[in-house]
Amino acid sequence: MHKNMFPRDFAWGAATSAYQIEGGWQVDGKGPSIWDTFCHEKGRVFGDQNGDVACNSYELWEKDLECIQQLGLTHYRLSFSWARLLPDGTTQHVNQKGVQYYNKVIDDLLTSNVSPVVTLYHFDLPQALQDQGGWKSPGIASLFDNYAQFCFQTFGDRVKLWITINEPQVCAKLGHEDGIHAPGLKEKGTAAYLVGHNMLRAHAMAWHSYNSRYRSEQKGAVSIALNSDWYEPLNQGCPEDIAATERDLAFTLGWFAWPVFVTGDYPEIMRSAIDAQSRKLGYNAASRLPSFSKDESAILGTADFFALNYYTSRKVKPRGGCEKMLCIKGDQDTEEVLDSSWPISGLSWLAVVPDGLRKLLKYIKDTFNNPAIYITENGFSQVGPLQIEDAQRCVYYKDTISEVAKAIQEDGVNVRGYFAWSLMDNFEWADGFSVRFGLFHVDFSDLKQSRTLYQSGREYAKIISKSRSGQSK
Ligand code: NOJ
Repeated sequence: MHKNMFPRDFAWGAATSAYQIEGGWQVDGKGPSIWDTFCHEKGRVFGDQNGDVACNSYELWEKDLECIQQLGLTHYRLSFSWARLLPDGTTQHVNQKGVQYYNKVIDDLLTSNVSPVVTLYHFDLPQALQDQGGWKSPGIASLFDNYAQFCFQTFGDRVKLWITINEPQVCAKLGHEDGIHAPGLKEKGTAAYLVGHNMLRAHAMAWHSYNSRYRSEQKGAVSIALNSDWYEPLNQGCPEDIAATERDLAFTLGWFAWPVFVTGDYPEIMRSAIDAQSRKLGYNAASRLPSFSKDESAILGTADFFALNYYTSRKVKPRGGCEKMLCIKGDQDTEEVLDSSWPISGLSWLAVVPDGLRKLLKYIKDTFNNPAIYITENGFSQVGPLQIEDAQRCVYYKDTISEVAKAIQEDGVNVRGYFAWSLMDNFEWADGFSVRFGLFHVDFSDLKQSRTLYQSGREYAKIISKSRSGQSK
């Protein structure tokens, strides 16, 4: 393995999200979220499963803490359930039981010398806000800002790393274009752009609030977690493949990273592709990609670090402009293929390409002005028969972390932390419990939801302890 040296203060973490682990979906005053609603509709999720109980972390938090300690993590990334804190989504009514729960989690982490990293929004909008238009409605931005400020005020004395929104591209596209995530809309070619826009506005408002009201006292940092695969041309020398690859990067990472880190606006190639497709299909209304108005909070510069979720890579070629309906696929006009040399993890979308992460990190360094980067998610799925001795996942983590080390040492990328997805097996959205991403296995058939360390968890703990004791491998 590559000489595996990380900065002494490197953040070694694991991540989870509220809906995926907490359960307790309607106890102690929590309001329903769009995922509660979505899962309770037939046919939405694998086996009609839901997160009503999940890992029951609402009751079993102390078990999670033991897992965290066993791994030797320095950081733990969790998300707050907006509807557990503010059942109808507004600060008119605060659920004190929810506040108590997260206070305990944060205090226990700090007592154990683990820094909490909190995501404010990880896919689970309060249903009450969805009923008023959800992320499609412009008013959502100030409601999110109120919620964020409530959290900064209540927990910001102890939480120093904040993520406003997790994977806005996934929320926008899977939730509002493809309809496979809550709220299950399939308004192709329009809604996702509007949702993404309002998410950026919401993020920027919250960042500005933190910056002007809380930063000087609390001294924390705020960002937005962006997902991206690494994309490269199917044929390196082919101009059409190169252009298609640029479009994929623009429509995934650039959609959100360009406004925040580069120009305050969307990537030009994204807008021109969308507008050209509108013209081609005779859609004559205003651009489907909204614009930022002058009086809105400026978007540019609203991230104190770069938060990246990376899982896999793709080779790219043009799709051939064959789409007859308005949709993102048609706007993007790319086709993504897997290299035959890439092994597949449990899930068909998750080809194992550790060096794709190194390339993506270098791209982020060069494109977004060498930001401090936290890899806020990275992981490997298991499906089918349970394997506690998960040799393939051990190799995945070793290889991927080794690529992160190379990015730091050889490419000079300023990587500050790495978070494995996930601390434990949990509710994998539309795939329910059929897919396992945990460093701990959770036995969902047992009322105690007992947690068992996978071999990969043991390996990850070793990597952390070696790195922290300054040894190389
Ligand atoms: C990204 C999401 O943030 C997380 O919720 C999900 O479970 C993982 N990817 C794996 O798909």
